[in-house]
Amino acid sequence: MRKLLIIGIGAGDPDHMTVQAIKALNRADVVFLPDKGQEKAALRHLREQICARFIEKPYRTVTVETPQRAEAGSDYRGVVDDWHARIAANYARLFTAELAEGEHGALLVWGDPALYDSTLRIVERVRAGGLALDWEVIPGISSVQVLAARHRIPLNRIGEPILITTGRKLAAGFPAGQDSVVVMLDGEQAFAQIAPEDLEIFWGAYLGTADEILIAGRLSEVAGEIERVRAQAREKHGWIMDTYLLRRMQA
Ligand SMILES: C[S@@+](CC[C@H](N)C(=O)[O-])C[C@H]1O[C@@H](n2cnc3c(N)ncnc32)[C@H](O)[C@@H]1O
Repeated sequence: MRKLLIIGIGAGDPDHMTVQAIKALNRADVVFLPDKGQEKAALRHLREQICARFIEKPYRTVTVETPQRAEAGSDYRGVVDDWHARIAANYARLFTAELAEGEHGALLVWGDPALYDSTLRIVERVRAGGLALDWEVIPGISSVQVLAARHRIPLNRIGEPILITTGRKLAAGFPAGQDSVVVMLDGEQAFAQIAPEDLEIFWGAYLGTADEILIAGRLSEVAGEIERVRAQAREKHGWIMDTYLLRRMQA
């Protein structure tokens, strides 16, 4: 049977690679590398660096063209479902053509495969479509862990929960009853749209890379600075990935 190794590669620094991830990479006959256009060119470069540095045996690489997602509009789930179906069909074709029976293919997943990443859902779809596949998941260091480490903070207050959500959800307001909220996938700076009273923010962009930026403080005092710095960095690099923790300030 063909086997997929779904490997968490960390959030931007090749040193995030775990020993387990390195061992898994060295079992791969084929490494599938996604190509998602300009924003992701830098991310592809990091994946290539990881392969060159850690793989100590012959391997092949196969580029995976990622289809464009339609604008989400009001039917977010429908649009994502359609997009995943097209990605799964593409993967099914590539796994059939490029992986021989008994070979191992590696998919290098940014951060950790369990957190805001659809690779596992897409592999399930490929299997549901009839292609016999085994698969293994190797956890990685997520951007959320790197954010906490770089700001030198724990994510939760003692005995309290954390909510991890998206900018899209935060735009509706700071979630009621929550103390600490981690926000990912925020292309609209939702932190600047919510009432800032009693909130502090720990923000990080390009975490783990040479371009890393960290800003922390009372939301009312630093929101404008983050918006300005974020816009400048995005202009300079042509893309940005940022994550932040918002939490209620303690009296
Ligand atoms: C599709 S999700 C992937 C998350 C990934 N699986 C993880 O474990 O971090 C992409 C989002 O993760 C966050 N992210 C990933 N890498 C980051 C980095 N190096 N610096 C800041 N945020 C990052 C951003 O919020 C970005 O919008």
